[in-house]
Amino acid sequence: MIFSIEPANRNTEHDIINKIGKQTSYCKDFGSIMFSSEGAYIKGWIRVAKIAVSGAIAGFTCVRHKVRAPETMLYFIAVVKDCNGEGIGKALMADLEKQTPHNRIALKVEKTNEHAIAFYTRLGYITESINEYGGKGILMAKQLEPKE
Ligand SMILES: CC(C)(COP(=O)(O)OP(=O)(O)OC[C@H]1O[C@@H](n2cnc3c(N)ncnc32)[C@H](O)[C@@H]1OP(=O)(O)O)[C@@H](O)C(=O)NCCC(=O)NCCS
Repeated sequence: MIFSIEPANRNTEHDIINKIGKQTSYCKDFGSIMFSSEGAYIKGWIRVAKIAVSGAIAGFTCVRHKVRAPETMLYFIAVVKDCNGEGIGKALMADLEKQTPHNRIALKVEKTNEHAIAFYTRLGYITESINEYGGKGILMAKQLEPKE
């Protein structure tokens, strides 16, 4: 499947991104704090994968490039169910590695989300803490090659 990855447009794409995020139960806080803030869109922290033929959004990442700590926090990634297993999640993560100004990407994932944990592990993320979210989640991170 041919797709491109670009910054999301809040005015025209927020609703569909929100809907894709809510396809999974692992997205309870979605649409509240970080994601609903207009600033995240303006800063380019929400990026979408769009299918070339239709222009439909097949997935997205939502991040924060921290200022005080030298790391990017991945808040959420989701790919629409019909498009799972097509390499879109991997491409979104590769895009994130390109976009981040830092050498480190961190994320928190629920312990029961075995699929996502396997996905992150496949992409080189390592578990750093198993006591996040009051014991319900784990912290994973990946160290990148230094940026030139
Ligand atoms: C996790 C998610 C983003 C993966 O997206 P995807 O587009 O299906 O993943 P890809 O097709 O790009 O897979 C990338 C690689 O991970 C591997 N992978 C994916 N799921 C895997 C699994 N359950 N077990 C082992 N490997 C897995 C793929 O085999 C592929 O490996 P490759 O490099 O050998 O080709 C997607 O399943 C999703 O949206 N899940 C629901 C939302 C969610 O839980 N998000 C995480 C919240 S913290």
